[in-house]
Amino acid sequence: MEVWIATGNNGKLKEFRFLLRELESDVHSPNELDYYTTPKETGDSFEANARIKAKALAAVKPGVWVIADDSGLCCEGINGLPGVHSARYAGEKARDTDNVAKLLKMLQMRTQNRKAHFECCLVAYSPDGEEIVVTGKLEGEIARKQSGTNGFGYDPVFVPSGMEKTLAELESQEKNKISHRALAIEKLLEKMK
Ligand code: IMP
Repeated sequence: MEVWIATGNNGKLKEFRFLLRELESDVHSPNELDYYTTPKETGDSFEANARIKAKALAAVKPGVWVIADDSGLCCEGINGLPGVHSARYAGEKARDTDNVAKLLKMLQMRTQNRKAHFECCLVAYSPDGEEIVVTGKLEGEIARKQSGTNGFGYDPVFVPSGMEKTLAELESQEKNKISHRALAIEKLLEKMK
């Protein structure tokens, strides 16, 4: 079985490979294709953006499983931001560290409420073109400073509910038991069977 993941983010790809291991499939990404152009994420929801990415990859890779993820961090005290803008919160070419620095600054300036959740929407197309949509969420709060070096994105400032460590302080297996992406993939695997 061949599965293509519509992401160029190596952090996400690594998590997908681990989380899809029970399929015993070959997991590929568009990084291997020199004729693929990443589509613009112009949707106003995680689902809309995941569908844009899944459709673009399915168009060049028909007849295999294609999975696209759109995910991000939503902070209650700043109206759900950065939300669909999570990857580019501090600007078009922002690095993870720039996005995290901007988030900490915005929360400090605007609110006492540090509640947040990660959300992941997966849109998948089966080899015969059937669409599957699932979502997963991880609740938590944003720490006042960064800790840990594992993971990617906002992991160094996200403390899952009921824990005292950031996601970046957890081993990857621990994150992969509780993450928004793990939960969404669990639901997807049920539907793929
Ligand atoms: P996407 O590639 O457009 O879905 O962007 C998702 C962005 O949300 C990433 O670049 C990260 O900034 C953030 N994000 C999504 N999932 C995670 C996660 O598991 N940990 C940390 N940051 C995440």
